[in-house]
Amino acid sequence: MALQTLKGRDLLSIADLSRDELRALIELSKHLKNVRRIGLRKLEVLKGKILGLIFEKPSTRTRVSLEVAMRELGGEALYLSSSELQLARGEPIKDTARVLDRYLDAIAARVYRHDTLVELARYASIPVINALSDVEHPLQALADVMTIEEFKGDIAKLKIAFVGDGADNVLHSLMLAVAKLGGKLYIATAKGYEPRKEILKLAQEEASETKAEIVITYDPVEAVKDADVIYTDVWVSMGQEAEREKRIRDLRHLQVNPELVKHAKKDYIFMHCLPAHRGEEVVDEIIESKNSVVWDQAENRLHTAKAVLIALLG
Ligand code: CP
Ligand code: NVA
Repeated sequence: MALQTLKGRDLLSIADLSRDELRALIELSKHLKNVRRIGLRKLEVLKGKILGLIFEKPSTRTRVSLEVAMRELGGEALYLSSSELQLARGEPIKDTARVLDRYLDAIAARVYRHDTLVELARYASIPVINALSDVEHPLQALADVMTIEEFKGDIAKLKIAFVGDGADNVLHSLMLAVAKLGGKLYIATAKGYEPRKEILKLAQEEASETKAEIVITYDPVEAVKDADVIYTDVWVSMGQEAEREKRIRDLRHLQVNPELVKHAKKDYIFMHCLPAHRGEEVVDEIIESKNSVVWDQAENRLHTAKAVLIALLG
């Protein structure tokens, strides 16, 4: 069973998962959703386990879904704002890692620099989970795949359009997931905003085995034409605030609005990891439309968080 191979491991990138492990996490998430729907919230599978949450940046979904997931699974979560840890006074991450390792059963961390996670994972023997870095957001991608399959079925048969910042962390993880599971991902971005080379390379290597297609275009209409899914994320991610004006200027032609979505399939679904900046990457009319599945997508963060915690810690 693919889930058993995940026990004790880190989850820093979707690339850390084999195809079978990714598939098994999605299936377990679907199962956990059904179980919760019939009123079974309390599962005592992580009784006595404690997850530490180190957050260098704000969070609503990731923090709350992980905390609720731990509680519903019978364990506990400890929120550790990095500004209140000795990290803020210069204690090295490698020292923090070796100390927290003695207290906790796992750490989820949201960091500015992906290297911080790598360092944390290197020095902590317990599982380290990427709760978002500048490069990836694997917990989000799990919920994204689950949501796409819930509404549209087998991802291998779909065309997904991502419109916006091509070097976005959420997109990088989605790209790796689509590459592993098959399917077409069209990324419409602007020159200079292409995905990171190392992530694109990993995705293309996977895609050559699964027959997935990863296409980068500068034409948003080409990307959304007959698409089943339209996905976007903010143009200014956390940590990029200083470049705000330039980024908005460079990406403004990539807004998801009624004019653009008319090229997609009539029953396309609109997705966004949230938080959204209405009037920038998407307009209110689209996010509030009947095609939008953003609240289901956000809900699925809880079920997928539980699946990850059970697999790594159970
Ligand atoms: N989508 C997501 O990760 O949201 P938060 O920043 O609220 O955690
Ligand atoms: N790309 C966004 C995602 C937020 C969940 C950011 O990094 O701010």
